[in-house]
Amino acid sequence: MISEKMKALVSNNSVIRQMFEEGQQMAAKYGSENVYDFSLGNPNIPAPPKVKETIISLLEKEDPTVLHGYMNNAGFPDVRRKVADSLNRRFGTFFTENNIMMTVGAAEGLNCALKALINPGDEVLTFAPYFVEYRNYVANFDGHLTAVDPDTTTFQPDFAKFESAVNDRTKAVIINNPNNPTGVIYTEETIKKLAEILEKKQKEYGTDIFIIADEPYRELVYTGAEVPYVTKYYANTIVCYSYSKTLSLPGERIGYLVVPSEAADAEDLFTAVTIANRVIGCVNAPSLFQKVIGECLEEKADINFYAKNRELLYKSLDEYGFECIKPEGAFYMFVKTPTEDDIEFVNEAKNEHILVVPGTSFGCKGYVRIAYCVAYETIENSLAGFKRLAERYGLTK
Ligand SMILES: Cc1ncc(COP(=O)(O)O)c(C=O)c1O
Repeated sequence: MISEKMKALVSNNSVIRQMFEEGQQMAAKYGSENVYDFSLGNPNIPAPPKVKETIISLLEKEDPTVLHGYMNNAGFPDVRRKVADSLNRRFGTFFTENNIMMTVGAAEGLNCALKALINPGDEVLTFAPYFVEYRNYVANFDGHLTAVDPDTTTFQPDFAKFESAVNDRTKAVIINNPNNPTGVIYTEETIKKLAEILEKKQKEYGTDIFIIADEPYRELVYTGAEVPYVTKYYANTIVCYSYSKTLSLPGERIGYLVVPSEAADAEDLFTAVTIANRVIGCVNAPSLFQKVIGECLEEKADINFYAKNRELLYKSLDEYGFECIKPEGAFYMFVKTPTEDDIEFVNEAKNEHILVVPGTSFGCKGYVRIAYCVAYETIENSLAGFKRLAERYGLTK
């Protein structure tokens, strides 16, 4: 009865979600303190106190018909102006409210961007390992996602492979910085090189090729690492941002999308994303949380919590003989499995009550993703299990 397109999705239901459910079943069976669930990127620290204070104050002071009402599909103009001002202050850009659309998280921003750009059969490139939903989002608009294989020494893009993958059907390239699942940050040099290749290819084919910059982890960086702002390097860029991780608000579904004025057909493109917002059925981003964001632009969740987790996990896994790049951002570690068969390793880890996600689901076999946005004690208590896994596979430092 269900559509052919959905049949494939139903039978292939997201591995991460499945693991999450499996984790809940294991917790019910063994007790949650004995299950070490590293499967989901669900922030484990509360939103900054100012978020709650702002919600209360808005509910008390604002006109409820405005606060809970419909507005322009792009969102409240005053909030979009504040977002634009904040970006301009931090990154030296020149945005106005006419460049900003409030979205239902980065997920909806990505869907609006793709709906605005993609014709059936168009190709979208991304870099493996990549966020598992990209393939589904691109398929929503009958596009085709192609993943460029990684350079596994650095997990920066492999430029030669990228250049040969771009063709006359390439409509967009999704980059995710800082990266889920590797925690790697694409450097300024990387962004410049990607921009240079795309400028060349646009000229060669006489097409517009967009970078869709998926940036929900922009603010989650360690030791002051810089995340280059892509619109400054490449005009045909759409930025998809989210407060799910920065403010620990994933369930509230709030973010924004940026269409810079320098982009090709920028005005039409902005109108197209706002229509996409309506047609997809979101209509507008949640009104109360738009207003909350307008007052909390200088806030962010306490990165020290994740930094502490990162140190303990990285130091311990390294000591046991696991190989992994120390993440510079986000809250994920992408660890090489001691066997090529990452699914086998995931199952072995389950025997230790450790839940991790196979690299295969990010298009990168032979690795697992550990989401360390968990309680510090969860990491401490999981270490004996990781050590036994290392011993079972004969790893040594
Ligand atoms: C790389 C990446 N993009 C997009 C999203 C979607 O985030 P949001 O909650 O903002 O829709 C996530 C969520 O985990 C993500 O990791």
